[in-house]
Amino acid sequence: MQLMVLLKMSKSLVKKLSKLSLFSFGKSSEANCESSKDRKLKDSSLEKDYKIGTLLGSGGFGTVYSGTRRSDGAQVAIKHINKKRVTEYGKENGRSVPIEIALLRKLAGVPGVVQLIDWYEQTDAYVVVMEKPEPCRDLFDYITERGALPEDEAKDLMRQAVDTLVEVHEAGIIHRDVKDENFLVELDTKRLRLIDFGSGTYYRDSEYTDYEGTRVYSPPEWVLWQKYNGMPATMWSLGVLLYDLVCGDIPFQTDEEIVRSSLVFREDLSSDVCDVIRACLAFNPDDRPADFDRLLSFRWFSDDDNTSAEADSGSVFEQGAVIGA
Ligand SMILES: Nc1ncnc2c1ncn2[C@@H]1O[C@H](COP(=O)(O)OP(=O)(O)O)[C@@H](O)[C@H]1O
Ligand SMILES: [Mg+2]
Repeated sequence: MQLMVLLKMSKSLVKKLSKLSLFSFGKSSEANCESSKDRKLKDSSLEKDYKIGTLLGSGGFGTVYSGTRRSDGAQVAIKHINKKRVTEYGKENGRSVPIEIALLRKLAGVPGVVQLIDWYEQTDAYVVVMEKPEPCRDLFDYITERGALPEDEAKDLMRQAVDTLVEVHEAGIIHRDVKDENFLVELDTKRLRLIDFGSGTYYRDSEYTDYEGTRVYSPPEWVLWQKYNGMPATMWSLGVLLYDLVCGDIPFQTDEEIVRSSLVFREDLSSDVCDVIRACLAFNPDDRPADFDRLLSFRWFSDDDNTSAEADSGSVFEQGAVIGA
């Protein structure tokens, strides 16, 4: 019991710290200008259409409130994005808008992505109105409440996450901040919804040299050399996510740990799930699954009866990567 409380405390600290670490990589905090932001929201035409509710969360890019659409009482989420923090723009009906809005618009109709309802431009901010599944939790809070998830539940969530990323990539988009906080779990149905395209961009096959995602989900090639390719970096973040789902916390906290890529698994995990995690978290990007099909072809995904503890009792696996090889 005490262990559970400690785990929750350490996870919420990590949530805060991972957000703080974003600030030191170019994103500034909005938490300290709460009152002026509230005023701006209230002054805008937004207020005619929506009643602003309580704070749902805040992170690297924005602050998100619950809201109610006045016309029909629909529950929404309202994200406030300070213009100073927008580093990339896209096009929406010929108008220049933050990339987050352009990408969400392009993903309209993708069931695993939270849907954009409306957006507003204010003097120094953009406001994004999105659907808010009811009732829901972000996956970080969901895992914090429940601890490590049973493998069959983790598998269902991972399949949904991967299926959604397939559609996102097919639309020519890369999210670049795949992590527990950026998925919503609909509590009644366990349906997963991807949010927060603020670090995303258009997918390309050549190398990226910019990254606004979360450090503890970033791959060793970014930490060491500040460059990465889209698919191997996505695979790495999926490995961190899957480890988080089945172990209750992320595998690496520091740059040194990311670069060492050394994994310690709980002994009651199946060898099949460890195989998937090990493959995604291979130090060498070429050793990770080359695409989503290859990821889903791992036995853990194809076999529904291999998730019991007796599959591999009593073994603690460790993986040590060759650094700089
Ligand atoms: N559509 C939504 N419905 C419910 N909660 C949401 C929604 N969008 C965001 N949130 C909550 O707000 C938090 C921050 O939102 P996010 O878009 O990830 O902002 P940031 O770019 O600051 O990380 C999320 O982790 C989640 O808890
Ligand atoms: Mg986020």
